[in-house]
Amino acid sequence: MVGNSFDVVTGGAGFIGSHLCRALVEQGRRVRVVDNFATGRSENLAPLLEQYPDQCEVCRQDIRQLEELKAVCLGAATVYHQAALTSVQQSVEDPLECNSVNVEGTLKVLLAARDGGVKKVIFATSTAIYGNSEVLPKHEAMAPEPVSPYAVTKYIGEVYGRVFSDIYQLPTLGLRYFNVFGPNQDPKSEYAAVIPRFITRALAGKDPIIFGDGEQSRDFIFVEDVVAANLRAARSDVHGKSLNVACGQQCTLNQLVEVLGEIVGRKLTPDYHPARPAEVRHSVADISLARELIGFEPATSLAEGLGRTVQWFQNQKLEV
Ligand SMILES: NC(=O)c1ccc[n+]([C@@H]2O[C@H](COP(=O)([O-])OP(=O)(O)OC[C@H]3O[C@@H](n4cnc5c(N)ncnc54)[C@H](O)[C@@H]3O)[C@@H](O)[C@H]2O)c1
Repeated sequence: MVGNSFDVVTGGAGFIGSHLCRALVEQGRRVRVVDNFATGRSENLAPLLEQYPDQCEVCRQDIRQLEELKAVCLGAATVYHQAALTSVQQSVEDPLECNSVNVEGTLKVLLAARDGGVKKVIFATSTAIYGNSEVLPKHEAMAPEPVSPYAVTKYIGEVYGRVFSDIYQLPTLGLRYFNVFGPNQDPKSEYAAVIPRFITRALAGKDPIIFGDGEQSRDFIFVEDVVAANLRAARSDVHGKSLNVACGQQCTLNQLVEVLGEIVGRKLTPDYHPARPAEVRHSVADISLARELIGFEPATSLAEGLGRTVQWFQNQKLEV
């Protein structure tokens, strides 16, 4: 793979990264994945590698190995930086490791991109940076108030991105994902996100476990809409900023359980457990800036995305 004819996806074996790889390859791009498989799974990429063996290459390495990373990024058009330790809970338990991967790792991705002549870096950041501010919806002009080590690392990544845009003329754009869901999302990790956990339990005939009273809210977005935002971000001239990527709709966990119950055709009765520390209470995004600057528009409703996700889980042989 030579010239500017390929893109790099860090974390490409993960949930969001694997969908991004497919979309790029289906658009005729060649893709290099950098992943150490800490949480990524080879099953996420296997169908793509089988279908497009000449367009997708997997580099099994850690983003913190700078020299190797520089070699991978040399001459890439766009670097889509998705690799991270993504669990808030895990960051509370091991903030040093989270900092190492998410801050040092992101800095090394930016350095490798700068030195490799990369045209643009699109990186994943998070709604977590807004913390517990009671202002809703969350908009980009709000001051970040991280309440977990994970959120701190994502915020520092954003600041590095802006600084690299300013002082090294490396165009970067951060996408603040809200709660992403869809096929390929791992339900088995002890840090699994709420939708895959609810779905796998529902399909196994079990009720969902909710930490807290279920009235906490999230802004859920289907993974294909997140991929579309990445592709738009790469094509745009906007840089040195971070943009919200969400549906702009607030949904409580209790409401989510209801919609899921309708899809699986059974009333689900949540089993409530004590709330977890460092978890944000309410979240919903103002997405007008992403609309205005990159023409982003979420296309998938919660019910449609959930339906497609349930269907995917039904085709997997997963144990709960
Ligand atoms: N899923 C969400 O709802 C959500 C919300 C906000 C932000 N994000 C961000 O989106 C990105 C992707 O998240 P995801 O949900 O797909 O998570 P994921 O865990 O499925 O994917 C992360 C990938 O990064 C890889 N990785 C981790 N450490 C690495 C390292 N040191 N070197 C190389 N690869 C490494 C993992 O193996 C995995 O494949 C992350 O940056 C995350 O912080 C996700």
